[in-house]
Amino acid sequence: MFSRWISASNDITRQFLSFGVRPDFISMAGGLPAAEFYPAAAISHATGRALARWGAKALDYGPVEGFLPLRQHIAERMARQTGCAVTTDNVLLTAGAMQGLDLLGKILIDPGDRVVAQYPTYVGALDAWRPRLPSYEALDWVQNGVTTVDVLRAAKFVYTVPNYSNPTGALVSTAARQALLEKVLEAGTWLIEDDPYLPLQLDGAVGPSILELHGRMEKAEPYQGPVIYLGTLSKSIVPGLRVGWAVAAPELIQALVLAKQSADLASSMLTQAVALELLEAGLEQTHVPHVVHQYRERRDALCTTAATELGQWFEWETPPGGMFVWMRSRNPAIDTDALYEHAVAEKVAFVPGSVFDPHGRLRSAIRVNFTRNAPAVLEEGIARLALATRRYLDSNSLRTKPRVQRTGGSLP
Ligand SMILES: Cc1ncc(COP(=O)(O)O)c(C=O)c1O
Repeated sequence: MFSRWISASNDITRQFLSFGVRPDFISMAGGLPAAEFYPAAAISHATGRALARWGAKALDYGPVEGFLPLRQHIAERMARQTGCAVTTDNVLLTAGAMQGLDLLGKILIDPGDRVVAQYPTYVGALDAWRPRLPSYEALDWVQNGVTTVDVLRAAKFVYTVPNYSNPTGALVSTAARQALLEKVLEAGTWLIEDDPYLPLQLDGAVGPSILELHGRMEKAEPYQGPVIYLGTLSKSIVPGLRVGWAVAAPELIQALVLAKQSADLASSMLTQAVALELLEAGLEQTHVPHVVHQYRERRDALCTTAATELGQWFEWETPPGGMFVWMRSRNPAIDTDALYEHAVAEKVAFVPGSVFDPHGRLRSAIRVNFTRNAPAVLEEGIARLALATRRYLDSNSLRTKPRVQRTGGSLP
């Protein structure tokens, strides 16, 4: 009776969270930052300042739209960052970007509606939207010519994570963003640009966001366009603040506000007031370069060890940013759902590719997180994964016929 809410991927996400707290277990599954670098002292001071500054207001129910000074701060930041005429009417503060995804599903998707989503697709979005019963079409970046204006016209919205996607870590080129934007404008559909990994630029810099590309073409104030941008402080400060935001046309923000009101009345005023103190004090400018340096070391440690330990079974591109390495199996006999069970037996976890496929059929790839664990722990995790792969292949070599491997890039 709960079937619309419960799925294998909901369940697997819950499992990852429990692995994270087992001391004998190495979890490379969750998309979690390194907890040892959390700026706890800065947050403690900011909490004191927020309470002194706002008093009981910081402890009260607040406006559904979000704490106004923080909304103004985010509106100015987004206007500066994108060149779009973003005003407070364009901004809703949310409990993380995840709440933005959930609310967007509630206001935009009617059962059977088509969603064109970057494939493989962030599991949190699939989980949030599953009860709305959408159907999915894979977004094939427009330079390949597959996602046509007609496909977009038939869709309720397009969903993409162009910066260091979850799960693949891929960075979409500026030309592909521009081409997609032009088709979206022609088709008259919405486009959700989900951008949590923007701060985690490990090699080089990212190009303009799709919102920025649209800001170059469209100057109406407040912003009226089809791009819905989701931002968050989860990766640049801490996920525990649960502060994120949606930037969109005012009519859409108004619908989201009603949806948020019935979801949680309003976000915590305290964490919003603390977030404002942290942003005004410029914490991100010192904190982000520090974690980026650490994450680069971790990514390199993982990829170097994996090249020796896993290279015979998997291939991957070193991601230029974000939190994940997406490893594709070279061996058609490997079913990554089955490998997952063997990995758990060796006390190591990754996320099997199937949870990033709306139909659960992508069983030839795994997502490995490199930010949560120190380099030496990652090296041990990869060694365990190699052992699990060897044991798995030994155990099924006589039993399993080779599978036809899915190549990804399109949904059935
Ligand atoms: C692509 C993507 N969108 C949204 C989120 C949710 O982030 P938040 O912590 O802001 O809710 C995540 C979390 O990792 C993510 O990877």
